[in-house]
Amino acid sequence: MQRTSYDVIVVGAGVAGLAFTLSLPADLRVALLTKGALGESNTRYAQGGLSAAVGPDDSPELHAQDTLAAGAELSDEEAVDTLVAGAPEAVRWLTALGAQFDTGPAGEVLLGREAAHSRRRVLHAGGDATGAEIERALVARVREDVNVDVFAGAFVVDLVVVDGRCRGIIAELEPDAELTFLEAPVTVLAAGGAGHLWATTSNPLGATADGLAMALRAGAAVADTEFVQFHPTVLAVPGATPFLVSEAVRGEGAFLRDAAGERFMLGNHTLAELAPRDVVARGIQQQMALDQRDHVDLDLRHLDPDEVRSRFPTITHELANRGLDLATDLLPVAPAAHYFIGGVVADTEGQTSLPGLLAFGEAASTGIHGANRLASNSLLEGLVFGMAGADRLAEEW
Ligand code: SIN
Repeated sequence: MQRTSYDVIVVGAGVAGLAFTLSLPADLRVALLTKGALGESNTRYAQGGLSAAVGPDDSPELHAQDTLAAGAELSDEEAVDTLVAGAPEAVRWLTALGAQFDTGPAGEVLLGREAAHSRRRVLHAGGDATGAEIERALVARVREDVNVDVFAGAFVVDLVVVDGRCRGIIAELEPDAELTFLEAPVTVLAAGGAGHLWATTSNPLGATADGLAMALRAGAAVADTEFVQFHPTVLAVPGATPFLVSEAVRGEGAFLRDAAGERFMLGNHTLAELAPRDVVARGIQQQMALDQRDHVDLDLRHLDPDEVRSRFPTITHELANRGLDLATDLLPVAPAAHYFIGGVVADTEGQTSLPGLLAFGEAASTGIHGANRLASNSLLEGLVFGMAGADRLAEEW
């Protein structure tokens, strides 16, 4: 088998893998592998945004409180504190890299609202194309990095463990190629989630739990796999590809209606449509059973149509492709698998139970999300912990 050596191998090129890679010392030789094209990851499809306590009425303490409450008080508090404290710096880092968040007339960053956030705290880009903008900025920079070899269309078959230490990976570096052994003292799993283990999902096709499976086979500790987040409002048009309708739409005032046209979430939780995501998803599922329908309706008809369309251009466009108008139609939505909360047990610098293996982002289980992730904390996790993990590696190298 062909064998090539690197300093660091990174599996996955979403926000976690890229933030880690770009924060490494520039002289390290890195192999960055992604299953699809570079830029085609779950990150790219994130609509709502990136949560960070940067507003004048906000603080990391409030952000932590909201994260813990949404997580049903099952989160690791210390890890949550690290996450929220690192958020403003992560925003500055991304902005310096060229990511452009939406701003108002005086240049102030615009902050959206999403469920279970007590403040407007969600930075967004292109209205509802936040992940695409972040991925664009990160990919542009990684392409300039001469010490990063990018393998797109590569499939990682397994981790290689020798004498209790991860020594690299076995991979097909391109479709149907011979297997190659890439060896390195440090391997990073940032391979994303598992949405396609379920019948309907908001995730792109690549989310097939490969990282989790590899880690299990290698003997790394895995936790919290029972916590799978279902997004409440994925478009449910029979025969059409499911499509996420961002929680930010409810944050701007959209209602959920049952078959009789009633706002059923009013009777479910004091925050109604803006209750934590698991509460809303369960409320919808129960209502669908009561009404014997395969969806409930999302209603924006009471909002200003021009504002709706300009705030959510991507969703407007995708719905139009499916024959629906975001501003004027009742939209059929149902819960769908969205985010894998569990994963490879890792600390806030990516250290796992297997020496030589780090894990970040959706592939990791750091305990910050408890039983239910707060909206827009996932891009943030990939950034903050990815950057911290690279800093630690640099100190120890
Ligand atoms: C959304 O835009 O509703 C998804 C955001 C997230 O999963 O955090």
